[in-house]
Amino acid sequence: MSRRKLIAGNWKMNGSLAANQALIAGIQAGLNAPACDIAVCPPAIYLPQVTQLLAGQNAIAVGAQDVSEHASGAYTGNVSAAMLQDLGLRYAIVGHSERRQYQGESNEVVAAKAQAALGAGLTPIICVGESLAEREAGQTQAVVQAQLAAAIALLGADIARCVVAYEPVWAIGTGKTATPEQAQEVHAALRAQLQAASAEAAATVRILYGGSMNAANAAELLAQPDIDGGLIGGAALKAPDFLSIIAAA
Ligand code: PGA
Repeated sequence: MSRRKLIAGNWKMNGSLAANQALIAGIQAGLNAPACDIAVCPPAIYLPQVTQLLAGQNAIAVGAQDVSEHASGAYTGNVSAAMLQDLGLRYAIVGHSERRQYQGESNEVVAAKAQAALGAGLTPIICVGESLAEREAGQTQAVVQAQLAAAIALLGADIARCVVAYEPVWAIGTGKTATPEQAQEVHAALRAQLQAASAEAAATVRILYGGSMNAANAAELLAQPDIDGGLIGGAALKAPDFLSIIAAA
């Protein structure tokens, strides 16, 4: 079966009320019957603004960059899945490498976050990816498979309702993109791992590539059989670049 591609913009800790409004307006002005799903993931504080700006249309969904693994209570600074659902969000990124690195999120915490998102009706975008040292040590497959295995172990058949994003850490924000062949090799292995969990998951789960995807390299990455979209950082902050990637999908 063919999977509808997903292009998701991860704005990271960028933006302002004025900049967000201009970016959304620019994306909307340039959208022309997109053939893929589209999402934008602004910082948490701007989620109400961006959901408001996008109210009444279906082309662009909104996602969060993180979600708490807990339901509610004494977790200062965190945002629950139910709160994201309350705003009408569709996606929550979990386990981005920046959170794994700076907030010390383990594979198990990331899996619990994915479970919390699913429990509130959100689609988690589960990020996996190896560091440069791990790639050079030949550990790429082992690292990403362990990251995905933790999610499969906790979610079971519900893994079929998730999105996975392969983001080699050495490619994020560096301008060094994985070659289409390097990316496809990892995506195919992740697909095989999903197949071992369930045939449905292998058929339905979209595996996005992330890491310096841009207007110039998107088409050849997205042409790979197991690359079902992109998780876009820097290039998602400029409407023309984001629109070019959408057009490539
Ligand atoms: P980048 O970020 O496109 O700026 O490399 C991608 C990501 O971290 O999701």
